[in-house]
Amino acid sequence: MALFLGIDSGTQSVKAVVYDAESKQVVADGRAPHALISDLPAGHMEQAPQDWVDAMDTAILQAVSQVDRAAIRGIGVSGQQHGFVPLDESGEVIRPAKLWCDTSTTEECALITDALGGEDAAIAKIGNRILPGFTAPKILWLKRSEPENFARLRHVLLPHDFLNYYLTGEFFMEFGDASGTALMDVRSKTWNGEVIEAIDSRVGECLPALSSSGEACGTVRPEIADKYGIPKSTLVSAGGGDNMMGAIGTGNVSTGVATASFGTSGTIYAYNDQPVVDPRGEIAAFCDSTGGYLPLMCTMNVTTVSELFRNLFGMDHESLSAAIERAPAGAGGLTLLPYFEGERTPSIPSGSGAFVGLNARTLNPDYLVRAAIEGVTMGMNFGLLRLKELGVSTSEVRLTGGGSRSAAWRRIIADVFGVSVVCMQEDEGAALGGALQAVWCDRRQSDSSVPIASVVDGATALDESTRLEPDAGAAERYAELQAFHTSYSKSMEPVFESHAPLKE
Ligand code: XUL
Repeated sequence: MALFLGIDSGTQSVKAVVYDAESKQVVADGRAPHALISDLPAGHMEQAPQDWVDAMDTAILQAVSQVDRAAIRGIGVSGQQHGFVPLDESGEVIRPAKLWCDTSTTEECALITDALGGEDAAIAKIGNRILPGFTAPKILWLKRSEPENFARLRHVLLPHDFLNYYLTGEFFMEFGDASGTALMDVRSKTWNGEVIEAIDSRVGECLPALSSSGEACGTVRPEIADKYGIPKSTLVSAGGGDNMMGAIGTGNVSTGVATASFGTSGTIYAYNDQPVVDPRGEIAAFCDSTGGYLPLMCTMNVTTVSELFRNLFGMDHESLSAAIERAPAGAGGLTLLPYFEGERTPSIPSGSGAFVGLNARTLNPDYLVRAAIEGVTMGMNFGLLRLKELGVSTSEVRLTGGGSRSAAWRRIIADVFGVSVVCMQEDEGAALGGALQAVWCDRRQSDSSVPIASVVDGATALDESTRLEPDAGAAERYAELQAFHTSYSKSMEPVFESHAPLKE
């Protein structure tokens, strides 16, 4: 028997799965929550990296207690993208990590963008805009806001790299997650000296060398092997960002397939053989974690929005779905621009939400809830449409994340996207992706030409009972609303650009 652990360290919890490479099944799992640091100023989103470690230990111990630990051969770690983990000379965490959803670095983004010669120049140099979600502005924020902490900075790691460091003792970074730092040129897959200079020349020495995602990060430290009761030879693969690993875990490792994740973040992405650089920078030009590319759009307002409405009206998940189904497609013209947390795409980090189309007929919980879910889904569809404009088209969208578990929401997704949508049998796509990358890494030790597809085939089954085809009438109605939603959303960009966050 050959077992592989897949870990997904997300914004809210760590999930662990044990994958049996012979039966191609997930045979055990574990989960432990971790929290955001509370009471920070508006826009600041931070977590203590030690909390991820503690949650990972708990989740792994839960999972391996259900299997023959001696059969574990490898571990693959997925983590929330972009977070900045600052370490000192001795590898100690200097301060909490600023996360992907932290929007406090708009000034730093402007400073780096100006130093590069403007937005178009930034895209020409690294393939991406400098956005608050990304890592580079967080490093400049540390230098400007906490100079004494910046003086101690010796190592820059991303969340999954930090967990790899804990497991192996190695400072290691692979192309997929590194492409989300805005420090790497995604076309040449090298660190960009101009971005580094725009922050501080010293940052170059703090970045690990870049490695291919098929490389092993290392083997587990003896203390880790003892703690988990697994072999000392257990390999730790390169790992990757949660979207990169979600791509592997949803079988999105060749062209023609897109994945949409309706979770704490909303992401929509599709594998490509070549870099896909968006001249408008709306689609992020990321690399994947199998040697390819992963153009991606990220929104920050998905299940946070459905949860706000569920709590507002005191509904459980079933009654939320029932409310959605009681209102008609298009919610009588009521539309939500769902930017409660500010937004990355459209770029309104200080933005707020807006309902348009309120009248005596639409001002009731059913219509408000339906319009909220439709508004969130249209925000995601903006990404699918932009991917299509960039030549990345797909005939099927694979769904993951909490939102896709609701059949009523899935119906809206199929009709708004206008394509066939389907969920996976194994919903923990990123954790499964971690395990599959570890299998691939293990096989590559004896044959470096093994394709990732040979590992993924048969392991990422679709749940055909969830498949929905778009309804032509509803899809037409949503296409009209989408045009309206997009133009309203984009018109918010200049409105919020010069404003401080409205939240207290
Ligand atoms: C993608 C992004 C989010 C995080 C969530 O660019 O920022 O999806 O990876 O963990």
